Amino acid sequence: MTLAASPIVIAHRGACGYIPEHTLASYAMAILQGADYIEPDLVMSRDGVLIARHDNDLGLTTNVADHPEFADRYRENSVDGELCQSWFSEDFTLKELKTLRCIERIASIRPANTRFNNQFEIATFDEILQLLKRLQGVAGRPVGIYPEIKHPSHFQALDLAMEQAVVRQLNAAGFDGPNALVYIQSFEIDNLKYLRSITELPLLQLLWIEGCPFDQAHRDNAVSYQDMATAAGLAAVAAYATAVGPEKNHFILAADANNDLHACDASNFIDDAHKAGLLVHPYTFRAENHFLPNNFTKGDDTQSHGQLINEIQLFLELGVDGFFTDFPDIGRHAVDSSP
Ligand SMILES: *[C@@H]1O[C@H](CO)[C@@H](O)[C@H](O)[C@H]1NC(C)=O
Repeated sequence: MTLAASPIVIAHRGACGYIPEHTLASYAMAILQGADYIEPDLVMSRDGVLIARHDNDLGLTTNVADHPEFADRYRENSVDGELCQSWFSEDFTLKELKTLRCIERIASIRPANTRFNNQFEIATFDEILQLLKRLQGVAGRPVGIYPEIKHPSHFQALDLAMEQAVVRQLNAAGFDGPNALVYIQSFEIDNLKYLRSITELPLLQLLWIEGCPFDQAHRDNAVSYQDMATAAGLAAVAAYATAVGPEKNHFILAADANNDLHACDASNFIDDAHKAGLLVHPYTFRAENHFLPNNFTKGDDTQSHGQLINEIQLFLELGVDGFFTDFPDIGRHAVDSSP
């Protein structure tokens, strides 16, 4: 397998450092800022339409609470073993979802983004693919798409499985075969294995910092994310995936109790992954001091930006093949100014 010539900038939920996540405006800004891929998280509507939302909980990212006509849809729901009370995408048709407007999810850290609250519709996957096509001409270069299938087991159990629909829509948009500018990602395992059986499109296995993939959790010999991050675990992932997406401060470097960044004990994560034939795309690089290890903060204000470019360049030096960032402009600059 050939490793990517230049590390890729993955616009995490669009340019969500600047415009509320998963809106067409946020994806458009990401493309214009030089992202190589835009990254939608996908969930399904009640009538089986793929939409971009952080997850199926609509309370956090839309103004659904201001819609009295939907007050009776508020309920308790078990999602991946956790009980939550909110409004959920699977209870709404696309037509109903289109009456909602998006809001900033982390307003306390990104207060400036709240000026866009209640302006943008929930975007469908189809609308995102159309936007991508239209803006490639403006960008003057091909831009890829990096969808995550959210809560796959949950939606499969509701008879709203997303895997076939995602592949079908990607194929219809001209993304086909192992060299397409696509990665389909998941925190679960079985749906990636299933995807490998129905498509040659590149797949990425996400790794959370602890616990097990939800589809494995009920099994006797459940494989944990820690297991998957070992040399043997990564070799097993390589049997069905093209790339692996580790949380950046747990598998490659580790932030200690003081929030200082150190090499992980006995970790050769990037080498092990490369030896297994996997590309490495860690997540998520964010500019605000709130999210940065001490090594890269500037001043004490949690909302102010630290030195994200230096953090990204450190990971580029360590050999990552791409990275997820909320700030595609800074990501582009980091890649272009690296030796
Ligand atoms: C981060 O800062 C700590 C404390 O100064 C230092 O020990 C550590 O080596 C730094 N990490 C990196 C990756 O530079």
